[in-house]
Amino acid sequence: MADSGIENLLQEDRLFPPPREFSEQAVGTADLYEEADADYIAYWTRQAKERITWYKEPTEGLDDSNPPFFKWFSDGELNISYNCLDRHLETGGDKVAYHWVGEPGDTRTITYTELSDEVNRFANGLRSLGVVKGDRVAIYMGMVPELPVAMLACARIGAPHSVIFGGFSADSIIDRVNDQGAKVLITCDGAWRRGSVVPLKDNCDRAMEETPTIEHCLVVKRIENDVSMVDGRDIWWHDLVEHQPTECEPEVMNAEDLLYILYTSGTTAKPKGIMHTTGGYLTGAVTTHALVFDIKPDSDVYWCAADIGWVTGHTYIVYGPLANHTTSIMYEGTPDYPDKDRLWSIIEEYGVTIFYTAPTAIRAFMKWGEQYPQRHDLSSLRLLGTVGEPINPSAWMWYHDHIGPQDCPIVDTWWQTETGAIMISPLPGVTATKPGSATKPLPGISASVVDVEGHPVPLGGGGYLTITQPWPAMLRSIYGDDERYVSTYWSRYPGVYFAGDGAKIDEDGYLWILGRVDDVMNVSGHRISTMEVESALVSHPSVAEAAVVGAADELTGQAIAAFVTLVGSFEETDGLLEELRSHVASKIGAIAKPKTIIFTPDLPKTRSGKIMRRLLRDISDNRVLGDVTTLANSEIVQAIADQAEAYRDDD
Ligand code: WTA
Repeated sequence: MADSGIENLLQEDRLFPPPREFSEQAVGTADLYEEADADYIAYWTRQAKERITWYKEPTEGLDDSNPPFFKWFSDGELNISYNCLDRHLETGGDKVAYHWVGEPGDTRTITYTELSDEVNRFANGLRSLGVVKGDRVAIYMGMVPELPVAMLACARIGAPHSVIFGGFSADSIIDRVNDQGAKVLITCDGAWRRGSVVPLKDNCDRAMEETPTIEHCLVVKRIENDVSMVDGRDIWWHDLVEHQPTECEPEVMNAEDLLYILYTSGTTAKPKGIMHTTGGYLTGAVTTHALVFDIKPDSDVYWCAADIGWVTGHTYIVYGPLANHTTSIMYEGTPDYPDKDRLWSIIEEYGVTIFYTAPTAIRAFMKWGEQYPQRHDLSSLRLLGTVGEPINPSAWMWYHDHIGPQDCPIVDTWWQTETGAIMISPLPGVTATKPGSATKPLPGISASVVDVEGHPVPLGGGGYLTITQPWPAMLRSIYGDDERYVSTYWSRYPGVYFAGDGAKIDEDGYLWILGRVDDVMNVSGHRISTMEVESALVSHPSVAEAAVVGAADELTGQAIAAFVTLVGSFEETDGLLEELRSHVASKIGAIAKPKTIIFTPDLPKTRSGKIMRRLLRDISDNRVLGDVTTLANSEIVQAIADQAEAYRDDD
């Protein structure tokens, strides 16, 4: 057993069938699974034709003549900004596209007509600078309306964009801009973050000393902080668009033309430029957005509370919602500014009906306490979603009990930058959910959990998550590195996509994502997922958040080391520590009992909120700490290292 896959330790038996009233009105219905099972290519082709307006409808579904370089709808022609804007204007131009909320409290309401005007003017501005189809444009901005405007303008003129998260440093800009040879860099003077200014333009200035391909830097005035503008190179956004007309002929794009590059970090230092193309990506985005979020364009106020710098924001703040003519919230700031109820106050004010966030945010809400959501009327919510990490069953229950009104379905959505759109998720009107399970692949997607040799594990087993058929929104390659594309995703199990995640499949065929394969521990020959031990810890009322790693151990190969953040009102005592160890043993078995537990006020996280277990492994093994500059909270690492040191001295 230990050789074949990953242990299945955590049992979770709670089941939440979809409420009948929800099912009766749901967009996604059970027959879609049958349709897609019968012929997945025909299913996706139907979605592509029905949900997208094409200049030339595709006659071909999947082209698999050169795997793993798959193509979808490859003789189709379309323009994505046309699909997100123009086609809505005649009947629904007055509808709000974004209720934008600035961190300091300023707001903007942007209709589809206004958004279209801004996109067209900026697209003309880009063309006036000589940007043409195929030129790469890098975007490094805060969460302001000009960010989706910039992306859509690029899509309009066929210039692939590459959004660089606004929390990254000048060095990250340099790597990413140089990898793709971008011609233009779009930024803001600065961005608000908890009341202080992030100097985006200064970072660009530093980066542009080492990015020879950048010809122009376009700057949105958001903060009005002092910035330096280099004559000829730097141009204010408002000056560029001032005299531009609000009509800009969209470029006719082939379905397989590059839409964007989005960098995601790999195991080596060099980030991977994930490539998404036009027709297949949009098909995945509109279809999954409509089905998973049960979108009713006329009544919903939808909020994906991610940052557009991540793929979640690309697909579920920009392309999916706009193509589906949805009204969205877009919020500039952090959830705890000026107070820890900011998100709940926005939900109340705008009557948000659908809310999508990350488990890491939910665990922060748990730590802060339920008094914050309780201050607000959240009864407008009818659907909740999560993405980005496995959600611990107790965080799922907290979300269910304290944010969703009674019986509000939760969609736990598994996907990746590489997959472009949601892959494994409940359909909220069809699937009975289990806290902590992303449930089953969506219609048209097929996944399999396999052992090291690539054989499917039996129900009840654990192993490695693979996707066994191509899908329209899949990445096409890694920019400039086809070889790395093949070796990272298609070589471990020839012919199928290797996601890099561990997973288990239960007796009902439900999938439970166990986290990145690199995080799996090996204790006395048993492969144990960090996620299951963390979930056992978080199920104790005192624990808000936990991270678990395998620390080198002479006896057992690896021993389980846990790092635990307590809920505000609990004290860090030795008694509690012992209680937590026994709690894990009683929940999932003695084999999973942590050898050490260290209390810490916070855990090291990436900027997108994922726990950085690699650093905790370094700490546990008393190694020199790796690079911490890309963390959201680098100061916490030294604090934890000091605690661990003290712990070792005590021993
Ligand atoms: C993890 C984010 C469990 C997983 C869209 C995946 C999840 C990685 C879930 C991709 C989920 C994402 N349950 N794990 N619902 N969603 N993950 O590229 O490890 O930022 O491989 O894309 O996040 O992260 P990325």
